[in-house]
Amino acid sequence: MRYLTIALAKGRLAELSVKILMDLGFDCGEMLQKTRKLIFTDEKNKLKFILVKAGDVPTYVEYGAADVGIVGRDTILEEGRNVYEMVDLKFGRCNMCVCGPASMRGSLASHSPLRVASKYPNIAKDFFESKNIAIELIKLNGSVELAPLTGLSDVIVDIVETGSTLRENGLEVLEQIVPLSARIIVNRVSAKVERDRIAHIVTEMKNRT
Ligand code: PRP
Repeated sequence: MRYLTIALAKGRLAELSVKILMDLGFDCGEMLQKTRKLIFTDEKNKLKFILVKAGDVPTYVEYGAADVGIVGRDTILEEGRNVYEMVDLKFGRCNMCVCGPASMRGSLASHSPLRVASKYPNIAKDFFESKNIAIELIKLNGSVELAPLTGLSDVIVDIVETGSTLRENGLEVLEQIVPLSARIIVNRVSAKVERDRIAHIVTEMKNRT
């Protein structure tokens, strides 16, 4: 039997995913230790787990370097990779939103172009295109809430989970774009040739969430 490789998105989702996988009896607890190791093997179940940046999970899965990936829907939408999205794990729930100061409420269409900062340029572009609002997109890599506070942008497109980051920085949700949660994605070839083993893992994970 060959090894199946499961790619996990480093960060919050990886921790939750590892806990569920441990509950299912997989040997992957070492991933919770803060080491620099990136690949972990469960010999008994012939599984390999790899830890990658969230945005790279769909890439590993599309190319078949990983058979399965666990990643947020935000990343799936942003990366637009050719993978098979199998299941909603229903944890890591949050929303992709347009956020900004209260003064921007109701006036997005009157700024032309509207300056939008985001870690998710494709999601932002698609959303404003669908609304026929012209934008100037500013790609950032983190702490996006700073952009409207410093005059870098009018609004941001970002994830809102508890809303504390917005509240603590005097910003508000102006529009909801899409609800998000953790998903299982599968390589299209693996979905066929390893169908039973993958279906088993997917079903077990789904039942635990
Ligand atoms: C994410 C997101 C928001 C924040 C939302 O950032 O980009 O900034 O979490 O969570 P909240 O609604 O619970 O406050 P993350 O912590 O991943 O770090 P980053 O700002 O460096 O991207």
